[in-house]
Amino acid sequence: MFNTIAVEGAQFGDEGKGKITDYLAKKADIVVRFQGGNNAGHTVYHDGVKHALRALPSGIFTPKVINVIADGVVLNPQELIAEIDDNFPKGTKLTNLLISSRAHLILPYQIERDKMYEDMLKDKKIGTTKNGIGPTYSDKARRISLRVGDLLDKDYLKERLHNLAFFSNKELEANGYKTIDEEEVYENLLKYAEVLKPYISDTALYLNEKIIEGKKVIFEGAQGSLLDLDHGTYPYVTSSSPTSLSIPLNAGIAPNKISKVLAIMKAYMTRVGEGPMPSEVNNDFANIIREKAHEYGTVTHRPRRVGYLDLPILRYTCLLSGVSDIALTLFDVLREIEDLKVVVAYSYNGIETKNIPSNPKEYAQYKPIYKEFKTIPYYDTKKIKSFDDFPNEAKEYLNFIQKELGAPISIISLGPNPEDTLLLKELI
Ligand code: GDP
Ligand code: IMO
Ligand code: MG
Repeated sequence: MFNTIAVEGAQFGDEGKGKITDYLAKKADIVVRFQGGNNAGHTVYHDGVKHALRALPSGIFTPKVINVIADGVVLNPQELIAEIDDNFPKGTKLTNLLISSRAHLILPYQIERDKMYEDMLKDKKIGTTKNGIGPTYSDKARRISLRVGDLLDKDYLKERLHNLAFFSNKELEANGYKTIDEEEVYENLLKYAEVLKPYISDTALYLNEKIIEGKKVIFEGAQGSLLDLDHGTYPYVTSSSPTSLSIPLNAGIAPNKISKVLAIMKAYMTRVGEGPMPSEVNNDFANIIREKAHEYGTVTHRPRRVGYLDLPILRYTCLLSGVSDIALTLFDVLREIEDLKVVVAYSYNGIETKNIPSNPKEYAQYKPIYKEFKTIPYYDTKKIKSFDDFPNEAKEYLNFIQKELGAPISIISLGPNPEDTLLLKELI
């Protein structure tokens, strides 16, 4: 057994991965972001200050923790520099950050194309964050994108950039969009290279050495399992794999080096962007929760769609990702909420099912079958020191979930700050 744990969003993103990662990081040695890019918005309250992290791992505020941006991430260098400046005193050189030379760069070409593809899709759009995520991953597969390590070789950088600019500008121009000046991008990249140079390294090698030494490592997923490119509600997904399944490939470690998988679950469901969400409602339950928990996107500020907790989705995540433990977040939000229920199965064409179909049009027609729960009365979250301190109505909800999912709820989160966390089992 290695001292490693995956932190994975079990729904459609925004489950509180940042909060839980920062909380667990105090006991860890290394935190690794392994996929996605600045489409993520991870909220962390550290020492009472609110931070919205995009590409930086959520262990960044704990100085003894080394934070790794691994191979599978797509990185916007300009935005990363801005993120460091926004979250640390001006001119700070982080001593606890490593960036993989194999991570791919998001450049203006991919951002423009992300916007262009969304425009062209019109009412069939995905609702992306328009940060160039999809085009960068597709350019990676087409073998025309640039990598972080390319910043260290000026001539090679120019060569690679020319290739990307050639294909991208041709496409932008053909569709009536403004082309992007290659020379200007190159000059900017040389400036970013100077700032990022000290962080660039072979992170796969580093991680393997440290895991074997017995260091405590957290792999922090971005997005959520239902936004997984392969296993989510395709095409309404992101362009990487947020599940634990992708960690070996994206961090460059073997599958047997991941010891635990912690699924982060909101006590209800939210989704931003397009795509099916059977438990979505537009009623008091949704409206009250949206305001109480401020369910608006961290990145795009769009109102999040709200629904009841969906157990078929969570079961699917638990099975696919080998979930060993659950962190239930935003549980405080359910206090005094009326009309509390969870989805236990779906009905489709008169047939009951617990499966998630691959066709999103079919999935959009699934009607939830619910189990109702009594309203959880108000309780003071500060007085909850053990599971037994919860009101009976809360215990019933929690027990039902862990029994149905076959994994223990090892963390219950009762507020955005680290001190609002009930740890029921040591995880790292
Ligand atoms: P992430 O993307 O998974 O890191 O989640 P986000 O940060 O995008 O969204 C989670 C939101 O819920 C943030 O505003 C957090 O500050 C907040 N939050 C996290 N855990 C809790 C909790 O247990 N209770 C409450 N009330 N808010 C929480
Ligand atoms: P965190 O890490 C919620 C959604 C977008 C869109 C789809 C594709 O904060 O949980 P993309 O820009 O990735 O190509 O958009 O995925 N999306 C997220 N939704 N939380 C996120 O990240 C998300 N990252 C992407 O809204 O529907
Ligand atoms: Mg988020």
